[in-house]
This record gives sequence, structure tokens and C-alpha cells, in this order.
Amino acid sequence: MSEVTAIEHLIMSQRRWSPHATGQFTSLMHDLILSAKIISRNVNQAGLVDILGATGSVNVQGEQVQKLDTFANNTLVYRMQSSGAVCAVGSEEMAEPFFVPENEPHGHYAIFFDPLDGSSNIDVGVSIGTIFSIFRRPDDENYWQLSPEALMRPGTEQVAAGYFLYGSSTMLVYSTGHGVNGFTLDTGIGEFLLTHPNIQIPRIGKYYSTNHGYFNNWDPAIQKAVHSFNRPVDMPPRSLRYVGSLVADFHRTLLKGGVYLYPEDTKHPRGKLRLMYEASPMAFLAEQAGGKATDGKQRILDIVPSSIHMRTPLIIGSADDVDQVLEIYKAEGKE
Ligand code: AHG
Ligand code: MN
Ligand code: MN
Repeated sequence: MSEVTAIEHLIMSQRRWSPHATGQFTSLMHDLILSAKIISRNVNQAGLVDILGATGSVNVQGEQVQKLDTFANNTLVYRMQSSGAVCAVGSEEMAEPFFVPENEPHGHYAIFFDPLDGSSNIDVGVSIGTIFSIFRRPDDENYWQLSPEALMRPGTEQVAAGYFLYGSSTMLVYSTGHGVNGFTLDTGIGEFLLTHPNIQIPRIGKYYSTNHGYFNNWDPAIQKAVHSFNRPVDMPPRSLRYVGSLVADFHRTLLKGGVYLYPEDTKHPRGKLRLMYEASPMAFLAEQAGGKATDGKQRILDIVPSSIHMRTPLIIGSADDVDQVLEIYKAEGKE
């Protein structure tokens, strides 16, 4: 126990290595981690307290908002706003980003999050999570000129991204562009401890992950790509794993390798997942761990968002497995 590294210690020591650091990123991460600890506690108590079930309201995506979604969103918005480190906050649960008023403490960072990903799994005890994506406001951009459009930056400009997984244990997996580290919450001491240093995604995985129920709604190229995993010509088929929480499905893909696909289908012509707070942060992690992420045509990180809540098809995971999908798309004329 004496040799383990706690996240707060790591962030503080990294700060000492950057002479120009203002301490804002340290504050932001501190308040983000505190938010996640609070959300994690409530997720674990979901069966005990009256926080389950839908609120009855519908979010900007036209989906039912669960009570825990609202709680997680409120916790994160409050903590980020009061951290003094951010100037803007965007969330799946808010139609428009929130700008910290100019006369209140604010900082260089803009943060986007999916406060609770996989919320349809809350009531059935399956892993859910919080996804985040952090950008630095360009120094030459005047605070009062900030607009939602100014926040629509491609994923290549993220300065940090990651997720908290509320699963068999609570984990934080994140990157600041220097590899990916995973931390596990030790609930006894209330600290995230470094348990998965320098995560590397295997080049090829054992699993493929997709909602097979939509098979008949996919175009022939997607059907063929999926068949290349479950009916390959000269090798045993891959096992299918699909939880329905992106955080959980991506976490398994990151650690064990494989490919996750949420392509477009007749019901979701641009895919279902949101670029700015689902696909882009996961793509940042995948690439930092040696994997790939594409929408089938271009690298996810190169896409310039056309709206805060823009959707995108997502194919992400082991480099060779993602390439296999792209080769089939190409052969089928889908590029
Ligand atoms: P959210 O709970 O934040 O709305 O996200 C749900 C997303 C994602 O987590 C998951 O991968 C996907 O929806 C599952 O969709 P299907 O039920 O269509 O497979
Ligand atoms: Mn989500
Ligand atoms: Mn959500």
C-alpha cells in the first residue's frame, strides 16, 4: 500500500514539472474527481434511496432523463462552475453550454461531459459512467467573445479526456496526451490509486461489440464488416460483448482489445453517439493507447463539430480491427 500512487499526488507532481502551470488544471481535476466520488456514492446507493426512475422530463436528445442523470449533471455543473478553472461547461443534459459569468471566478478551460452514460442500465445494476473532454480556451480569444460556436473544436485540440466507470469498482481512466493511465477508487481512503499505468490497447482483440439487433437496419458494407468478425473465413469467430453503456463497452475494448461499432442505421442516419462528449474523448484515449477511431470516412479526432450535440458513427478499438472494418468499407465503395 505504501508504494501506490494517488491521483491527486500525481497531478500535483506533474504540475511541478510545468513551470508555466497556473494551477487551474489541478483545480479542475480536483473538482472533477470530487464530483465523480459524489456521483459514485449515489450510484452505489441507487437501490437504497429514492433516486431511481425517470424524472418525467425529456432531454435535448428527446430521451427520458433519469433522476441520476439530473443529479450527476447538477453535481458536475456546480463543481466545475465553482472550480474557478473553467469558462464554459457543455453537457448532454443541457441544450446550450453554460458560460461562467465574467464577474465570477473563471479560468482557461472549457469542459464537455456526458454526466451519466448508459443511463438505461441504472435500474439493472450494469456499469455506467461519466465521460469528459477538456479544451483550453485560446489565449487570444476574448472571454466576452465566447459563443457556442467558438467551443466547437475538433478532438485533436483536447488537452485532456477520460471517463469515470461506476462498475464492480469505480475507475478513472484519462489522458493528457502523454499515454493513458487508469486509477481505481479505494473507497476506504477515498482516493483514486494508480492501478493501470500506461494502458496499451492490444493490436487485435478477442471481442467485437455492437448492437446486433440493428443488423437489418445496417447497409451491406456494415453487415459485411460485422460478418468478418462473427463469420471469419479462416479463423474462429470473435466473441460478441455488448453492454449498452459506451463507457463499459469501451473500457473492455481498451483493456482486452477488439472493436466497438455504433455505425449509422436506418433509425440513426448519423449514428447515435455524440461527438463532443462521447466519441471524441474516447477517440483521444484510443489513439493515446495505440488504437484507432473513425466514423468510417475520417478520423474521429479530425471532425469539426457542426453543433454541440452532433452525432457521429463510431468504430473504435484495436488498430488492426478498425483497419479491417475500413478495408471492407473501401472494398464496398463506402468511404
Ligand atoms: P446515454 O445513457 O448517455 O444516453 O448513452 C447511451 C448510449 C451509449 O452509452 C450506448 O453505447 C448506446 O447509447 C446504446 O444504444 P443502443 O441501445 O441503441 O444500443
Ligand atoms: Mn451517453
Ligand atoms: Mn448520458
